[in-house]
Amino acid sequence: MTVLKVDAAKSFNTTIWDIAPDKSISHRAAIFALLSDKSSYIENFLEAEDSLNSLKIVQSLGASVKKESNHLIITPPSKINEPASILDCGNSGTAMRLLIGFLAGVDGFFTIHGDKYLATRPMNRVVDPLREIGANIDGREKGNLSPISIRGSSLNSFNYDSKIASAQVKSAMILAALRANGVSTISEPFKSRDHTEKMLLEMGAKIEIDGLKNIVHPMKKPLKPLEIYIGADPSSAFFFALAAAIVPKSSLTLKKILLNPTRIEAFEVLKKMGANIEYKNISGEHEIVGDIEVNYSKLKAVDLETNIAWLIDEIPALAIAFACASGVSRVKNAKELRVKESDRISATVQNLKKCGISCKEYEDGFEVEGGEFKSAEVDSFGDHRIAMSFAIAGLKCGMRIKDSKCINASFPNFIDILNRLSSAYED
Ligand code: S3P
Repeated sequence: MTVLKVDAAKSFNTTIWDIAPDKSISHRAAIFALLSDKSSYIENFLEAEDSLNSLKIVQSLGASVKKESNHLIITPPSKINEPASILDCGNSGTAMRLLIGFLAGVDGFFTIHGDKYLATRPMNRVVDPLREIGANIDGREKGNLSPISIRGSSLNSFNYDSKIASAQVKSAMILAALRANGVSTISEPFKSRDHTEKMLLEMGAKIEIDGLKNIVHPMKKPLKPLEIYIGADPSSAFFFALAAAIVPKSSLTLKKILLNPTRIEAFEVLKKMGANIEYKNISGEHEIVGDIEVNYSKLKAVDLETNIAWLIDEIPALAIAFACASGVSRVKNAKELRVKESDRISATVQNLKKCGISCKEYEDGFEVEGGEFKSAEVDSFGDHRIAMSFAIAGLKCGMRIKDSKCINASFPNFIDILNRLSSAYED
């Protein structure tokens, strides 16, 4: 098992150009390319395990993929291929849930599975509403757990009112709605990330957005191909924003980061805690991209109970900021953390305790009292974001993170970048 060793850092002042491209948009770009009959051009696709698995799946479904400098050219098949083998999503819940919605209405038989972590994550949030509209889907525990099998069938139009603000659920249902036999509506209780709607609108899909409701018209013909540049992933960039916010006298500029408003809430929280953060050089129309400057300043505690869907992925990293702040910070309404790549409430609290930080677990969150980090050996629990959060904590006092290979799921060059701030290597 690999162990990542990180040494405490002295102050740094640097610019980072190579934050990994956005994972959410990369998955979508690979899958949505199949909705066209022409080649899609994707610049800056994320070459990490999760999104490369999606690309392989798209190839198994019949697409050809060519790489030219920093572009991927995905040419869809004239008809989706019925693959002879299982479609492997690896660690990615996004890929699995989006593909279930995408394939539910496609003629053919498909089996989707993933690694041992994904095999424990609930799929009924997409399987149940899809079955309601006529989808033929099964899996372990009555269709809740993978492997998931799909026999593509005709789908009825629907009105679906999701109880959770989940972009994965919304996206799966929008993809199914594109193949339904009439106009469908999908509503959510709070706006989740909106890349699916934005990208499909760009491709010419007929989607009307009315507040929290998406009205989706079925696709009458193939959509236009995608032509996009994918900005750097704000949830990956956030690890280094955190680094500058906790190492005294440090400053960082993070270049060409995706600044979609549904994705930068964690930066806003860090700002509220006292970090100096500025967005600069903003450009782009549909998905805006810009630079983020972060300067160290003393942090103070914060309470987090709203806009949780906009920062759910960054909560383990925010927990490190809480541990470095003065006062007690609390996270509530974040039960979703229990069904991410690991149970992130339990993983975060267990690791913080090992680092000598006083904290308490709630059913739907946790509280952390700011204190003095002490060097420890912590577990990644097979979860990339837990591994990277505690690697950044290592800049305070040194840290060993067991089972660190999972970082490759989303950010393969994370350790290279970290190593520019302080010694960091895997053993
Ligand atoms: C994602 C949506 C979020 C997020 C995940 C990526 C997406 O999950 O946590 O990392 O790309 O749609 P939920 O939709 O389950 O909230």
